[in-house]
Amino acid sequence: MMSTMSTATSHPEITAEFIRNRIAQINWFHQIDLGQGVVTPGDCNSQQKLARFHLPEDLTGKTFLDVGAWDGFFSFEAEHRGASRVLATDSFVWQGNVPGKSKAGFLAARELLNSKVEDMEIEPLAISPETVGMWDVVLFAGVLYHMEHPLLALQKVASVTKELLIVETATDFEFKRRPVLAFYPGEELLLDATNWFGPNTAAVVAMLRYCGFRQVTVVHKKPMYRRLGAAAKYMFRFRQWPWITLQQGRVAVHARR
Ligand SMILES: C[S@@+](CC[C@H](N)C(=O)[O-])C[C@H]1O[C@@H](n2cnc3c(N)ncnc32)[C@H](O)[C@@H]1O
Repeated sequence: MMSTMSTATSHPEITAEFIRNRIAQINWFHQIDLGQGVVTPGDCNSQQKLARFHLPEDLTGKTFLDVGAWDGFFSFEAEHRGASRVLATDSFVWQGNVPGKSKAGFLAARELLNSKVEDMEIEPLAISPETVGMWDVVLFAGVLYHMEHPLLALQKVASVTKELLIVETATDFEFKRRPVLAFYPGEELLLDATNWFGPNTAAVVAMLRYCGFRQVTVVHKKPMYRRLGAAAKYMFRFRQWPWITLQQGRVAVHARR
């Protein structure tokens, strides 16, 4: 399902109380600073994630596409960093496929930030120059492992990238050097049935090269001490075999033409 692009209208006087009331009923994912000392209570430590993505500090004059934007933290950040035009896209969460979650957070944050970020409801596999146009910088964060067709999804986002594609994803089989992908027919990754494939870092790099990027750089990799912590948590809390979870990580990669 796709809708026409739209933007927010400006808001008059905004107080901390007004913001708190406006966001109170929303089930947030991101932690967005809305000003007046109010930050949305999302589960995701968005500032920490941002540091791992190595988003260019200065996006002045650049166009920016955020694929799988959810509450839009990274879209608003790109606007804040000077992007001349920002498009936030999503489908799965925005269309109510995750119980209790929706597009309400994105819409409220855009209104309260008086942001000009545009939005479009479109699935990653429907992305093409014809549907969304071409963008200088494209962010594809936290979405690849949700894809039933990961290489095709990368080809789609690559097809609309002019300069830089930033891919962030969960990984698996990190002890293997050859490019491999784990397949999750059930809830094997993070007990979430919406996860389908976990590539290792070598596979992410190889797939991006296959998509036509000459310069592919790993800018962040979840360190072993954090993987050990996650393996211990999943072993004690969910009885998951630590040898498997220890091989699962996260990676952020910059791909340039
Ligand atoms: C983990 S969130 C990542 C949100 C944001 N990009 C970030 O990095 O914080 C996954 C996003 O992928 C989107 N998505 C798109 N297609 C999906 C699918 N088939 N299954 C699950 N999530 C999907 C969800 O709507 C959601 O916004």
